[in-house]
Amino acid sequence: MSKIKVGIIFGGKSKEHDVSLMSASNVIEAMDKEKYDLTTIGIDKEGNWYIYEGIKEKIKDGSWILDEENLIKDFSVFHDDLIDEIDVFFPVLHGPNGEDGTVQGLLELMGKPYVGCGVLASAVGMDKVMCKKIFKDAGLPQGNFLSVKECFWAKDSDQIIDEIQSEIGYPCFVKPANMGSSVGISKAHDKQELIEGIKEAFQYDKKIIVEANINCREIECAVLGNDDPAASVLGEIVPSKEFYDYQSKYLDDGKSVLIIPADLSEEITEKIRNYAIEAYMAIDGNGLSRVDFFVEKDTDEIFINEINTMPGFTNISMYPKLWEHTGISYHDLIVKLIDLAFEKNL
Ligand SMILES: Nc1ncnc2c1ncn2[C@@H]1O[C@H](COP(=O)(O)OP(=O)(O)O)[C@@H](O)[C@H]1O
Ligand SMILES: [Mg+2]
Repeated sequence: MSKIKVGIIFGGKSKEHDVSLMSASNVIEAMDKEKYDLTTIGIDKEGNWYIYEGIKEKIKDGSWILDEENLIKDFSVFHDDLIDEIDVFFPVLHGPNGEDGTVQGLLELMGKPYVGCGVLASAVGMDKVMCKKIFKDAGLPQGNFLSVKECFWAKDSDQIIDEIQSEIGYPCFVKPANMGSSVGISKAHDKQELIEGIKEAFQYDKKIIVEANINCREIECAVLGNDDPAASVLGEIVPSKEFYDYQSKYLDDGKSVLIIPADLSEEITEKIRNYAIEAYMAIDGNGLSRVDFFVEKDTDEIFINEINTMPGFTNISMYPKLWEHTGISYHDLIVKLIDLAFEKNL
């Protein structure tokens, strides 16, 4: 049997570039080389594309980009034999310019099957404001929020502050609309912090979202499938800091704790798993997503937080861990995702 040629796309012009390197190197390591033939395609932080033919170990620490003699720079994704041969792509990219429908659009134009959500679901999943609107339409429970565009902030910041103070109050969360890994997110406890937080969030996007703080436990559910998706067991994250920021996600050497399965009643567990599937269907998900929830500590009230169409994918990341506990190993998960990519393309 001839091998399936898989194009792994990694890196990306995104603040989550380094996270992608970690995810991609884990995916590459776990792929069955008897079954799959890999072509690795790297995107540097400036957005330049390369076919990378060097050793895979150099992907994790970013040194692949210095491996000049193994980089093919001059190629077109539309006219290159190496690219033409690829049967299926796996864009292991997080954040804008990769998880947001842009690369998915390119792959559509190339006419190739690819792992994960399509253009629409990826774009919606990346935009926290659009996502909330769709969740609302689907009847999913969520906290209060306001979205602010930079052009309006520049015109009348006082009015926006007033509106946030009366409709949301403190503490509140300020986030760029299109980002991930907690980049640009802050928790504001007063007006001063709110103004600073808004300015910070505008560094990353022209649109931001301000949300009411929820005194919560953080619960996550993995979804896998196309037309008939399945939901995993639930996991809980106990952040090492006041909230799950970039540092506690990736840099604190595992001080944030993942508890799988999450210690929740059967009733709440089932509700969340159903909400996860509803959210996935609402955005038109394919392949995979991780759906994140808040459960209010005092009342057990459930709120949906967000959907991640390309969740962290290292072997210690929540998404693959949740499936492992549900009965699908990291290795089998990759096989399943590639099968789903072909199935979606039928
Ligand atoms: N409304 C909220 N109430 C309480 N904590 C929040 C709220 N929004 C975000 N957080 C905290 O900030 C973290 C990052 O926010 P999130 O919306 O998940 O952004 P990202 O897409 O970067 O993961 C969450 O995991 C949680 O710890
Ligand atoms: Mg999150």
